[in-house]
This record gives sequence, C-alpha cells and structure tokens, in this order.
Amino acid sequence: MAAPRRTQKQIAERYKGNLGYYRSLHPWRRARFWISFLAIIGGIAGIVLFQTRGREIFFNPGKISSSHARFADDCAQCHDQSLISSGTLTPSTFKAVLRDRFSHGVAFEPIDQKCDACHLKQDRRTHTFHEASVVQDRSCSACHQEHQGPGPLKLVTSSNCVSCHGSAEVMQASAQRGMQLSPQAFHRHPAPPQQVVFELPRPSRGYTQKISSFWSGHPEFQLNREQVRDPDVLRFNHQRHFAADIPPVNGKRLECNYCHRPEPDGRYYQRISFTANCQACHLLQFDPKNPELTLPHGNATAVRAFLRSLPMQYAELAVKKGVTKPNEIQAFVTKQMTQLRERVRSGEDFEQQVFFVTDPYKPQRDAPPGVRASYYGCALCHEVKPVANTAPMITKPIFVDRWMPQANFNHAKHASVKCDDCHHAIQSRNTSDILMPTKANCVTCHSPAGKVVAACITCHTYHGSPSLVAGAAAPAGKYSFKQTAVGNPP
Ligand code: HEC
Ligand code: HEC
Ligand code: HEC
Ligand code: HEC
Ligand code: HEC
Ligand code: HEC
Ligand code: HEC
Ligand code: HEC
Ligand code: HEC
Ligand code: HEC
Repeated sequence: MAAPRRTQKQIAERYKGNLGYYRSLHPWRRARFWISFLAIIGGIAGIVLFQTRGREIFFNPGKISSSHARFADDCAQCHDQSLISSGTLTPSTFKAVLRDRFSHGVAFEPIDQKCDACHLKQDRRTHTFHEASVVQDRSCSACHQEHQGPGPLKLVTSSNCVSCHGSAEVMQASAQRGMQLSPQAFHRHPAPPQQVVFELPRPSRGYTQKISSFWSGHPEFQLNREQVRDPDVLRFNHQRHFAADIPPVNGKRLECNYCHRPEPDGRYYQRISFTANCQACHLLQFDPKNPELTLPHGNATAVRAFLRSLPMQYAELAVKKGVTKPNEIQAFVTKQMTQLRERVRSGEDFEQQVFFVTDPYKPQRDAPPGVRASYYGCALCHEVKPVANTAPMITKPIFVDRWMPQANFNHAKHASVKCDDCHHAIQSRNTSDILMPTKANCVTCHSPAGKVVAACITCHTYHGSPSLVAGAAAPAGKYSFKQTAVGNPP
C-alpha cells in the first residue's frame, strides 16, 4: 500500500479556526447552483419565447424539396400542429405527444391527410388510389420522401413497389380481397374518348403474381401469355406487302413508316387510313379500259349509287378527255357500257362483283406492276354482308391505338431499334396476328445485363387516373374485347 501524501493531522490543520466551514458554500458548489438555475430558467424562457416569437425552422431536420419550396418554411402545411397550437395542454395530449415522439417516430397519417387534401385542390384528384384490392395502402412518405435536400423529390424506387408486389403474402391477401370486388373497381387506365384501347379481362385472381424485378419474376405480357388474337376483320397481310412484286410508291419501296406514321410526340402511331396508306396501289378501279375511273371509298351506299349512275360517270369522263359534242359524248358512253356488259352479264352481277368477290378481275400477268393490285373490290379487304334491297354492310375496321394500357411506351426513345426486332411484322400473314413484343425483347436492354434502367416506374404509373375522383364512369374510348370474340375472330 502506497504511503498517504498527507497525514490526517495535516488535513485537520486546514480547518483550524474555521469550525463553521460546513455552513458556507465552496465556490464550486455555488457555481453549480447558478449554472443549474440559469439553465432551467433559460429553458423555460426559451419555450415561452419560442411559443410567442420563435421560428420553427430551428427544428427543421432537412431542406424541403424544390417542388414544395414555395411553402418550405410553413411547416403547418404538412405537419399537424393541433396538439401544440390548440393551446390546451391536457395530460392526454401530453401523453399523445410523448407516445408519438418516442415509440412511433413521426406519425405519417396526419401528414398524408395534408398531402392529399392539398393535392386534391392542386391536381383535382386524390393520390391514395392504386388498386381497389390493396390490403393496406402505403403512406405517401414511404415513396415521396421530404426533408432530403433542396432538389426535386427523389424518384420512387422499385423497392417501394416490390414491398407489395414482391411479397407472396401481400399478393395472396390482395387476390382474396379482389375476388370480393366488382371488376369495375379495377378500371384504372381510362383513355381519352377518341382512343381505342385493347383491354383484356382481368384474370380471376387479379394481377397478383409475385414480381421481384422486371428481368426475373415479372410475368410475360398478358397478350402473349394468353395468346390473344386480333378480332379485327380488315384483311391485311404484312408479309405479302414486302414481297418483291410490290410496286414502289414514288420510287420508294414500302417501309413500315409508309403506313405507320408517328404521332407528333413520337410516342405512338397514327391510325391507318385508306386514302393515305392503301389508295396509291388499291385505286378501286373497276374498268381496265378506263383506269381513270375509280369507285368512291368509305360508303357502300355511295358506291351503289355510283354504279347505278355509270352512264353519267362515263359522260363526265368524256368531257374530261376533251370530247365536247353531245352526240360524240353519247357515242363514247354507249361504247363503254357495251364493252363493260361484255365482261359482266348484268348490272346486278357487276354490283355483286364489286362488293363481294375477293378476286374479281386479274389484270394480265404482264401488266405493269403499278396497276397489278388496282382492280379488286371491297371484299378484298373487308368483311361484306349482304342486306336485302339495299347496299351491303361493310364491317367497320377497328384500329387499336393502345395495345398495352397497363404500361407506358415511347417509340421515340427506341428509334435505334429496328421495328421488326420488336414486332416481327414481316413474317405475319394474318390480320388476327397481334404483333406485340414479348418481354424477352425488352429484357435484352432493360436489365442489369443490358445496362438500361428497368425500374418499375420506367414503364408503369402508380396513381390512378384523374377521372377517378370525379367518380366518372369508364370513358367511351374504352374498347373491351370479349374473351370469346378474341379467341374466335368471326
Ligand atoms: C412538404 C411537406 C413538409 C413541410 C413543409 C415540412 N415537413 Fe417536416 N416532415 C415532412 C414529412 C413527410 C416528414 C416525415 C417523413 C420523413 O422523415 O421523411 C417530416 C418529418 C419531420 C420531422 C421529424 C424528422 C425525423 O427524422 O423524425 C421534423 C422534426 C420536421 N419534419 C420538422 C419540420 C419543420 C420544422 C418544418 C418547417 C420548417 C417542416 N418539417 C416542414 C413533411 C414536411
Ligand atoms: C400546400 C399544398 C401542398 C401540400 C400540403 C403538399 N404538396 Fe406536393 N405539391 C404541391 C405543389 C404546389 C406542387 C408543385 C406542382 C407543380 O410544380 O406543378 C407539388 C408537387 C408534388 C409532387 C410532384 C413533384 C415533381 O417533381 O413532380 C409530389 C410527388 C408531391 N407534391 C407529393 C407531396 C407529398 C407526399 C406531400 C405530403 C408530405 C405533399 N406533396 C404535400 C402542393 C402541396
Ligand atoms: C400497397 C401495395 C402495393 C404497392 C406499394 C404497389 N402495388 Fe401495384 N398492385 C397492388 C395490387 C394488390 C395489385 C393487383 C390489383 C388486382 O387485383 O388486379 C397491383 C397491380 C399493379 C399493376 C397491374 C394492374 C394495372 O391495372 O396496372 C401494376 C402495373 C402495378 N401494380 C404497378 C405498381 C408500381 C409501379 C408500384 C410502385 C410505384 C406499385 N404497383 C406498388 C398493390 C401494390
Ligand atoms: C401497306 C401498309 C402497311 C405497312 C407497309 C406496314 N403495316 Fe403494319 N399495319 C398495317 C395495317 C393495315 C394494320 C392493321 C391491321 C390489323 O388490324 O391487324 C397494321 C398493324 C400493325 C401493328 C399493330 C398490331 C396489329 O396486329 O394490328 C403493328 C405493330 C405493325 N403493323 C407493325 C408494322 C411493322 C413493324 C411494319 C414494317 C415491317 C409494318 N407494320 C408495315 C399496314 C401496314
Ligand atoms: C405499294 C402498293 C400497295 C399498297 C400501298 C398497299 N397494297 Fe395491298 N397489295 C398490293 C399488291 C401489289 C398486292 C398483290 C395483288 C395480287 O396478288 O395480285 C396487294 C394485296 C393486298 C391484299 C390481298 C392479300 C393477299 O394475301 O393476297 C390485301 C387484303 C391488301 N393488299 C390490303 C391492303 C391494305 C389494307 C392496304 C393499306 C393499308 C394496302 N393493301 C396497301 C399493293 C399495295
Ligand atoms: C385495299 C383495301 C381496301 C379496299 C379494297 C376497300 N377498303 Fe374500305 N377501308 C379500308 C381501310 C384500310 C379502311 C379504314 C381506314 C379508313 O377509314 O380510311 C376502310 C374503311 C372503310 C369503311 C369505314 C369507314 C368509316 O367511316 O369508318 C367503309 C364503309 C368502307 N371502307 C367501305 C368500302 C367499300 C364500299 C369498298 C369497295 C368499294 C372498300 N371499302 C374497299 C381498306 C379498303
Ligand atoms: C423496343 C421495341 C419496339 C420497337 C423497336 C418498335 N415498337 Fe412499336 N410498339 C412497341 C410496344 C411495346 C407497343 C405497344 C404500345 C401500346 O400500344 O401500348 C408498340 C406498338 C406499336 C403499334 C400499335 C400501337 C400504335 O401506336 O398505333 C404500331 C403500329 C407500332 N408499334 C409500329 C412500330 C413501328 C413502325 C416501329 C419502327 C419504326 C416500331 N413500332 C418500333 C415496341 C416497339
Ligand atoms: C421495361 C418495361 C417494364 C418494366 C421495367 C416493368 N414492367 Fe410491368 N409490365 C410491362 C408491360 C409492357 C406490361 C404489360 C402491360 C399490359 O398488358 O397492358 C407489364 C405488366 C405488369 C403487371 C401486370 C401483370 C400481369 O399479370 O399481366 C404488373 C403487376 C407489373 N407489370 C408490375 C411491375 C412491377 C412491380 C415492376 C417493377 C419490379 C415492373 N412491372 C417493371 C412493362 C414493364
Ligand atoms: C436496344 C435496347 C432497348 C430495348 C430492346 C428496349 N428498350 Fe426501352 N429504352 C431503352 C433506352 C436506351 C431508353 C432510354 C432510357 C433513358 O432515357 O434514360 C429506354 C426507355 C424506355 C422507356 C421510358 C420512356 C420514357 O418516356 O422515358 C420505356 C417505358 C421503355 N423503354 C420500355 C421498353 C419496352 C416495353 C421494351 C420492350 C418491348 C423496351 N423498352 C425495349 C432501350 C431499349
Ligand atoms: C408506392 C409508392 C407511392 C405512394 C405510396 C404514393 N405515391 Fe405519389 N407517386 C408515385 C409514383 C411512382 C409517381 C410518378 C407518377 C405515377 O406513377 O403516377 C407519383 C407521383 C405523384 C405526384 C406527381 C404527379 C401526379 O401524378 O400528380 C403527386 C402529386 C403524388 N404522387 C402525390 C402522392 C400523395 C399525396 C400520396 C399519398 C396519398 C402518394 N403520392 C403516395 C408513387 C407513390
């Protein structure tokens, strides 16, 4: 044991003549008292001062995004201040504050209500809606995180989607719930009324397959998975139109974009039209001796009227050709009518041919290529049904504007890829083929191996559409093909 530095005696020396020492405070003790006193008073003063004139920014955990910068300092826009600003601090509100702060962290629910209330005013729609069968909605802040710095709100990550879509239990529960709901509850991709959208029936268990990423687990697109056929009856054979004997138009061979012209924004394509895309070759001529004359298109009644006024049409043609004398015009008309009658037995027969025969007249084998396709009738392209005593019915062609309404696409961003790499149109002979790409087409690029982003939000949106707020019925543009019609095109 080490020797003590001072003996008891030496210590006692200090108090000699100062026996009341315990009654006065040591300077250190006095300092401790004052420090504690000032800290408590200062704290209370701080609270009082903050209540009256303090700035909340002091508590700001991080900068608000630029999207909300306009009211970044007005915390009450997002935070519920009723607990402190209502003025009455009761034991129960005090307990509520403590509980929120210490066991749950920030309460998201009141914030969510603020987000939704303001955005309902702002965008005139609610954002809570994803799918009717969702078992538990996510908080807005799970996906849109605030206080992360001054830039725009961060993009929503795939992990936010996979938290539901990648969980077998959540999807199983949603499938169960979905089976109790009406199918109408699920229409969340309304299109503008002028658009024709190909919509397949929702599978009985909903879209609840487990998906962990696009490149693994994401199902094959429904169109391909169910091997759907196009129910449209307009006959068109892509392969035939790329054959060697197809004449060039304006010196150019047919290409995809002779018929498929991009819309101005480049995302999707305009609809096909007879005048712009077919007429250059399928002129609807009916008399090889007078190729200048063509049938009107687009209205069977007008075609019938035209055929019944043929002498007049020939007379007009004669005038166009420079014939002026009435008797010469008459002679021209008579001559044309006679040669036409030599080919067709009667007026009715002729009308029948124009409407119904798919192969009414073959020009000579060695005819110049420009006129080779010119003489066919309506039934070459259309389904034509007879109607007693009037012009036949032409089934109206349906051109679909959007084939995969549950995802977004942008052709302009894929201009470097050949059309046929995705669509395989050159091999297609039947209208009933649906020439949509398979998932494998996309995975070559949209995957870690292909090095192009493959986040869920690259291709999908999360929130329902604006019209859901107004409680609007499905808009007129929706074109649902019934499964049976799809399976067996008429
Ligand atoms: C645009 C809405 C918005 C505004 C404005 C806003 N906040 Fe927040 N704040 C949130 C959200 C959302 C959360 C919770 C989620 C999170 O932490 O990302 C949050 C969380 C917080 C937290 C808890 C942080 C934590 O880590 O637990 C504090 C403290 C806070 N905000 C203070 C403020 C103050 C002070 C202001 C005003 C200067 C303010 N907030 C303005 C949206 C907002
Ligand atoms: C006081 C009204 C108000 C509140 C409350 C509010 N926002 Fe906003 N929000 C806006 C406005 C205004 C914009 C900007 C719109 C624009 O720029 O077109 C915006 C933009 C956004 C955007 C789009 C950002 C972008 O870059 O496109 C998202 C996402 C968003 N808010 C989510 C939220 C969330 C989540 C909350 C709740 C934490 C919330 N908002 C609270 C008014 C509000
Ligand atoms: C809270 C759970 C949940 C979250 C989070 C979630 N989903 Fe869903 N989602 C569902 C459910 C449930 C369905 C199935 C609906 C049905 O029964 O048909 C679904 C269906 C879908 C569908 C197919 C149906 C359709 O009409 O489009 C797409 C696409 C989709 N979700 C994309 C997303 C994306 C992208 C995200 C992330 C931004 C996301 N989901 C996040 C629950 C969720
Ligand atoms: C002479 C005009 C013409 C040319 C050239 C043409 N198409 Fe088409 N395409 C059509 C018509 C008509 C339809 C609609 C037919 C239908 O309803 O199936 C169509 C439909 C499509 C569709 C929609 C899917 C479908 O089944 O309706 C795709 C995709 C398509 N074509 C791709 C191509 C590609 C790729 C090329 C070039 C290799 C091409 N097309 C060249 C006339 C053309
Ligand atoms: C560049 C000229 C050209 C254009 C443009 C063109 N076709 Fe053709 N089409 C032809 C030729 C040539 C044939 C072959 C005729 C033959 O077999 O004698 C043909 C044949 C057809 C056939 C019969 C197909 C078969 O399998 O035998 C149909 C139907 C048809 N075309 C529809 C259309 C439609 C619809 C359009 C417009 C979307 C169109 N074509 C545009 C030149 C064209
Ligand atoms: C070479 C193929 C082809 C031939 C031959 C053809 N059509 Fe069409 N027809 C089309 C195409 C393509 C459309 C759709 C695009 C459009 O309306 O321009 C169409 C559309 C129509 C429509 C619907 C118009 C609308 O308003 O929706 C009618 C009616 C019609 N055709 C009648 C006829 C009649 C009658 C004939 C015979 C004289 C005929 N077509 C010959 C290709 C053809
Ligand atoms: C990377 C793959 C890819 C390439 C390359 C591609 N497409 Fe598409 N195309 C798609 C997808 C996916 C859709 C379905 C979009 C929808 O309708 O929802 C589509 C739809 C279409 C449609 C039908 C819908 C509409 O917009 O009318 C036509 C026509 C079409 N493509 C033509 C073309 C032509 C022409 C080219 C070449 C210039 C081309 N595509 C290149 C993937 C591709
Ligand atoms: C490269 C584009 C792309 C990416 C990335 C992508 N999807 Fe899809 N997804 C599609 C297309 C295209 C469809 C078919 C849409 C249709 O048929 O209308 C689809 C269909 C779906 C469906 C409906 C499934 C069904 O059973 O038919 C769901 C659910 C879905 N996607 C969720 C997701 C989720 C979750 C992610 C992220 C992990 C994701 N997708 C990533 C393109 C994509
Ligand atoms: C040859 C590679 C390639 C293929 C194949 C491909 N993509 Fe892409 N895709 C890209 C590139 C590159 C971008 C642009 C990414 C960017 O802008 O950051 C893109 C962007 C996209 C976008 C976002 C468009 C936008 O508006 O920003 C969607 C959606 C998409 N692709 C869907 C698809 C689908 C669906 C398929 C399959 C049918 C597909 N892609 C096939 C390379 C490809
Ligand atoms: C599962 C993730 C997720 C949740 C939860 C979520 N959002 Fe979004 N939000 C997205 C995605 C992804 C986008 C991008 C556009 C889209 O997909 O609709 C978006 C876009 C937005 C936009 C801007 C563009 C638009 O469509 O108006 C606003 C505003 C917005 N969300 C508000 C909210 C509000 C308010 C809530 C809570 C009620 C919420 N979000 C909940 C994923 C989510």
